[in-house]
Formats: sequence, C-alpha cells, structure tokens
Amino acid sequence: MSKLQLRGVRKAYGATVALRRGDMKLDRGEVHVLIGSNGSGKSTLCKIVAGSVRPDGGEVLIDGRSVEFSGPNDARKAGIGIFYQELSLAAHRTVAENICLAALPVSGGVFVDRAKVAETARRYADLFAEVAGTGFSLDATVESLRADQRQLVEIMKTLATEAPILIFDEPTSALDRAQVDCFFGILRRLKEEGRSIIFISHRMDEIFAIGDRVTVMRDGETIETDRIADTDHDAIIRRMVGEKGELAPPAEAANDAASGGGQVILKVEGFSGPGFSNIGFEVTEGEIVGFGGLHGQGQSAVLRALFGATPGNSGSVVLDGRSMSAARPRAAIREGFAYISGDRGRDGAIAGRPILENVTPIHFLKNRLALARPSHLRNKALPALEALKTKYAGLASSINSLSGGNQQKVIIARWLIDRPAVLLLDDPTKGIDLQTKTDLFALIRELAAEGMAIVLYSSEDAELLNNADRILVFNSGAIARELTGSDRTRYNLYHAAYEAA
Ligand SMILES: Nc1ncnc2c1ncn2[C@@H]1O[C@H](COP(=O)(O)OP(=O)(O)OP(=O)(O)O)[C@@H](O)[C@H]1O
Ligand SMILES: [Mg+2]
Repeated sequence: MSKLQLRGVRKAYGATVALRRGDMKLDRGEVHVLIGSNGSGKSTLCKIVAGSVRPDGGEVLIDGRSVEFSGPNDARKAGIGIFYQELSLAAHRTVAENICLAALPVSGGVFVDRAKVAETARRYADLFAEVAGTGFSLDATVESLRADQRQLVEIMKTLATEAPILIFDEPTSALDRAQVDCFFGILRRLKEEGRSIIFISHRMDEIFAIGDRVTVMRDGETIETDRIADTDHDAIIRRMVGEKGELAPPAEAANDAASGGGQVILKVEGFSGPGFSNIGFEVTEGEIVGFGGLHGQGQSAVLRALFGATPGNSGSVVLDGRSMSAARPRAAIREGFAYISGDRGRDGAIAGRPILENVTPIHFLKNRLALARPSHLRNKALPALEALKTKYAGLASSINSLSGGNQQKVIIARWLIDRPAVLLLDDPTKGIDLQTKTDLFALIRELAAEGMAIVLYSSEDAELLNNADRILVFNSGAIARELTGSDRTRYNLYHAAYEAA
C-alpha cells in the first residue's frame, strides 16, 4: 500500500485550470521527484496535499484511507510537512522561533516552552552548521538573512515537523553546491528511516542525484512515472514537451525585416551585473529577440539593467552607434529605450491617478516639458489609447478603475506617443486576458515592422515561440543557447533551459 496516493485531484482558479488531473503514488522510503515546466501544476498539487489549497475534486489517500483537510493544521496532524516554494517564514521572528513555528513546544498547555524551542532549533540548525555561512545564528531575525539562508531555515522548519511525509517544493533554488550536498545527505538518511519524500526541482542533475522515481507534469496533469534508474534527461524533457510540442512546426518568422540582416540598433557586449554575467547579443531594426528559459535566470535582471533601473552593471551597450551609460531610467528613456513590465504594481501604473496622467509621463520627460496644455496632451494620448483598443470611461478617470489588461494598455500607450528605438518587454502579459494578449502581440509585431528593435522576455513559452525571431535561452544568469529558424522548438527550449550550466 502506498503511503500517499492522489486520484484525479483537480483545482481551477476561475478560468485557469491549475491542476487538471493529479494522479500519483508515493511509497514509504522513497524520494519521489516532480518535474514540469513553470505553471504545470506542481505547487498546486503539493498545496492540496498539505491542506493549504482545497481541491475541486478527486481523492487524497494516506495509508489507504481517504482524507479531507480543512486546513494546513489538519494536514500536519495527519503527518505532512511541507517546504513552500515561496517560503512561509515570519520575517521579524528569530531563526529559532521560525524553525519551531510549525509545532511550537508549549508547557502547561499555553506558554511557549523557550528552552524546548532553543533545543529543538539547535538540533536542526546543527545539521547545516558547516554550510549556513556567516551571519547565520539562532538569534538572527529571518529578515536579516540572505536568500540561501532563508531557504535553509524553511528546510529546517520542515524537518522539525518530523512528519512521515515531507514535501519539498523547490527547496534548492537559492542554495549553493555544498548546501545542496549537505541537504541531500539528510534526505538520504530520512529515506533510510522510511520517510516518504516529494522533491521538486528544475535542476536535472539534482533530480538524478536524489530521486528514486520521477513523475513528469505537463499542463496541469501528471503524465507518467518512471524509476530514475530507467530514464534519462532526454526522455524526461520529451515528456515535458509532449507530442504536440514535439510535432509543432516552428512559428513563422514574425516579420520579414528581421531575416534581412538589417541595421544593428542595439549591441550588448560583456554585460554583467547582479544576477547575470557576460551577456552579449545584437538586435537589428525590426527584429524581435526573445529571452527564454526558466523563471528568474537573469532575463528580467538584464532588461532592468539595460533600462538603468538597477545599479552595479558593467560592459558595453551601444544604441544606434552611440555608447550608452544608462545609469538611470531617465537617461535611458532620453537615449531611446522603453521598458514595459508585467508587474504594473511595481513598474508601471501611478496608482490612484487619472488615466491622462498615466499616459503622458514619458512624453514630458522626453521633451523636457514642465507644463503642457491639457488639450495638447489629450491630442497625444487619444490616438495611442485608440491604437490599443483601450476601454475606459474618460481620461480623467483613475487608472485603478480599469481592468488589469486595460491598465497595461495605458502603460503601453505611454511609449507610443514618442516612439522609442528599443522596446524592452519584461513579461508584459502577466495577468492579462487572452484577447488583450492577442491585441498586444499584434501591436508589437506592427511596431517591429515599422523598424523598432524589440527584446521580449516572456514566462510563457508559447508567446516566445510564436513571436520571437530568435530566442536566447537563459540559464543561471548566462545565455546558454541561441535558437534560430527551425531550431525554435519547445524541445530545444526546454533542453537548453534544464541542462545545468
Ligand atoms: N492562487 C492562484 N490563483 C490563480 N491562478 C493560480 C493560483 N495558483 C496557481 N495558479 C495558476 O495555476 C497554474 C499552475 O500553477 P503552479 O504554481 O501549480 O505551477 P508550478 O508547476 O508550481 O510552476 P513553477 O515551476 O513556476 O513553480 C499556473 O498557471 C498558475 O498561474
Ligand atoms: Mg511551483
């Protein structure tokens, strides 16, 4: 009998099906790997098992008995401990308190037993004593720690549950080699004790180092389970891609200007900064160059650095033959860069302000205007909003009154008033509906056809494959591979993204 079994588990968020069909069996004493591209449903499956997400249907069985959890506490009592991908730590509390947070030792039924907390925390922290690094101590607050150290605390917290079923959702993404080795040593011991472990990672080498079996997920479904000993990298990537992706012909070149070897607009060489190193590429007039790979491999960091939004970069950036030193966005904008991010909250919308004010700041900046007549601005703003089919009541309405997709159109309209030479798109369609996405990419292709040089990072593989003339695949802050012409297939994209750099 399996320790844990899932049968036809499913979950949708509105129109988004996060988990279409979750079927898997977890044995006693095994490390069972889950692998699948970004958004394939891995975390959703784990959260359902851990009681933090309620499934719409299907069945979860522990030791052969069907269970239904009303929340994470329920799941913990049933013997499940989980490491959350987004972490679940209390930033202001100490490392010791966080390690024990899932199961705080109490004395006399009410008071937290401080001595017991310290003793338990010490035991789990000691396991990583050699690799935790400077600044790590039981009394440090979590907010003072580095990203890798926070991940270690979340690991310790998960181990401290002493649960028979342990789920680790991307526990190693910020860890270095020595930290991973140390953690794997612990996992091997737990396995020998008979614990059952689900392990998620995008790093192929880790999967083969620690896994006993592997289940591939694709588009919200568990596709197939294999013994690690009976499979290889290539077979796993093929399962992730699926037959459809395999047979699909590469998208047509998005526009003809791109293939003609036009004039180079942007040339980047030896570009390094926080999160990326030695990046080099060119974008010609009318070309859409895609940035691909798993999330967070340096794609956004490069775009933000080119736009002057982050300090500490080195290397050469040449725009239209002029050497650039975009230290700040203000300078980058005047030089001819535009930057559009899907993160409107952080990078785009001026919250609570009228639409007109949200459309025109770039126009002010580029033309060094301090004041302008409202009618002049109106005449500039209206055609730009029109071109994007933006739905809004009036230019005086607050931007917050618009849907996410229409807010994004206002942000984009900003850049259409005075055309930039280079358009940097940082996952621009995050959280917008299908129709708006289609409108947006039609417009992006039009802009390219008019000669704009475009760099597109998208977290959706289909958007890249359908729109980019060339794809630069990022892995660990570097360009691992360039895909052109008929090489632009999902298989090649995954292959480059998943092989360790
Ligand atoms: N709370 C939510 N609300 C709306 N959509 C969600 C929510 N959680 C997940 N989704 C969507 O469900 C799909 C599956 O998400 P999930 O987090 O399970 O993927 P994943 O395989 O863990 O991806 P990653 O490798 O990026 O961590 C995605 O399309 C995601 O956007
Ligand atoms: Mg996930």
